[in-house]
Amino acid sequence: MNESPVATDEELLRQRALDALTAARARTVLLTGCVDDHELTAQHSPLMSPLVWDLAHIGNQEEQWLLRAVAGREAIRPDIDPVYDAFEHPRAVRPSLPLLSPAESRAYASDIRCRVLDVLEKHPLRGGPLVDSAFAFGMIAQHEQQHDETMLITHQLRSGSAALEAPDPPAGGVSGLPSEVLVPAGPFAMGTSTEPWALDNERPAHSRELPSYYLDTVPVTNGAFEAFIDAGGYTDERWWADEGWAQIRKHGIEAPLFWRREAGQWLRRRFGVTEPVPADEPVLHVSWFEADAYARWAGRRLPTEAEWEKAARHDPVSGRSRRYPWGDTDPTPDQANLGQRHLRPAPAGAYPEGASPLGVRQLIGDVWEWTASDFLPYPGFTAFPYREYSEVFFGGDHKVLRGGSFAVDPVACRGTFRNWDLPVRRQIFAGFRTARDA
Ligand code: AVJ
Ligand code: FE
Repeated sequence: MNESPVATDEELLRQRALDALTAARARTVLLTGCVDDHELTAQHSPLMSPLVWDLAHIGNQEEQWLLRAVAGREAIRPDIDPVYDAFEHPRAVRPSLPLLSPAESRAYASDIRCRVLDVLEKHPLRGGPLVDSAFAFGMIAQHEQQHDETMLITHQLRSGSAALEAPDPPAGGVSGLPSEVLVPAGPFAMGTSTEPWALDNERPAHSRELPSYYLDTVPVTNGAFEAFIDAGGYTDERWWADEGWAQIRKHGIEAPLFWRREAGQWLRRRFGVTEPVPADEPVLHVSWFEADAYARWAGRRLPTEAEWEKAARHDPVSGRSRRYPWGDTDPTPDQANLGQRHLRPAPAGAYPEGASPLGVRQLIGDVWEWTASDFLPYPGFTAFPYREYSEVFFGGDHKVLRGGSFAVDPVACRGTFRNWDLPVRRQIFAGFRTARDA
């Protein structure tokens, strides 16, 4: 009888990295293959790059980190590095750069990928922080998936008919659910020092002491947000931070982005289709200022980042912080709405299998959740492997978002994962939930 060979840790790591890279590329191919060349090179919004820029940038980052930095190979296209350096050119000017054509971008990205697969087969996966646990491969898979979410935002911003489709998410329902849960006071471990592919800003694990607080069981819904609109929330300065009030006045903002009122009904445009706004779905496409104003109107506040993470990770039984609300296992389709399996959030109350020990739902997936917190380093932070991933964004300009949206792949989503953006941003797949002191 044959005994099946036992896979070594290193083989498992190689397989995990290969799977993550392959899944990311399949999604990139979908997002760049469902529209024609004109749509790939057009600028659909000054807030976004042309899709073809993201495509070649994905390849260029992969070349820089996996071929040059990890494998020590000679540069293949050093000439294009400056064109695809996100810090040299703001998104609005990228269409005027000497970009590779769609065909050249595809050929470049797949040429790099072929060589990377060769590196992944042979390169030792220990010997330094870049290769230990296949970190750089995981980082590059996450980078590609992050740009895939960015490209999905570009798809949402483009006008014209739908190019993408997906089945609807499972049903929700909040009947029988308490509107909020009490999180008892006490310390918890925030951040991680053990998650192999955690990015620099998630590290290191450290203890945080929090007083008790109440947190919404589910994200704020469109229906609840409509009540804020109907109550004159957008015309009452009391609810707004100064900069937020200035923004909504200047741009005439009176509802979430992509909403339009017709014959007394709110409609929204979602990936090329106009439809009534579903009352039971978590609200999307609101700025941090809109979330903050809603919370103040409701007599509540946004949770801090630490409050969000404690609700998502702290296990009251063991006292340990886990990877996800449901435990340490990777997300399954009945636990969270992730990975662009659906092109919308699931209704509030969906995914009971993904609830936290205290019963908080939809912390992972559906909508990114704005938090009250500025994007700052944890105590003991060290930039790795490059300052421009996180460190240059630390400070008071950016607010932290947690939990991931329906557009985030599981490889780039966990209880410790930190996203950030400017508080005026509305095109991202962001909503929120609220909290209050206990
Ligand atoms: C972490 C989502 C804010 O898209 O700007 C992509 C991720 N960094 N390429 C972004 C990122 C470099 C980043 N966010
Ligand atoms: Fe990037």
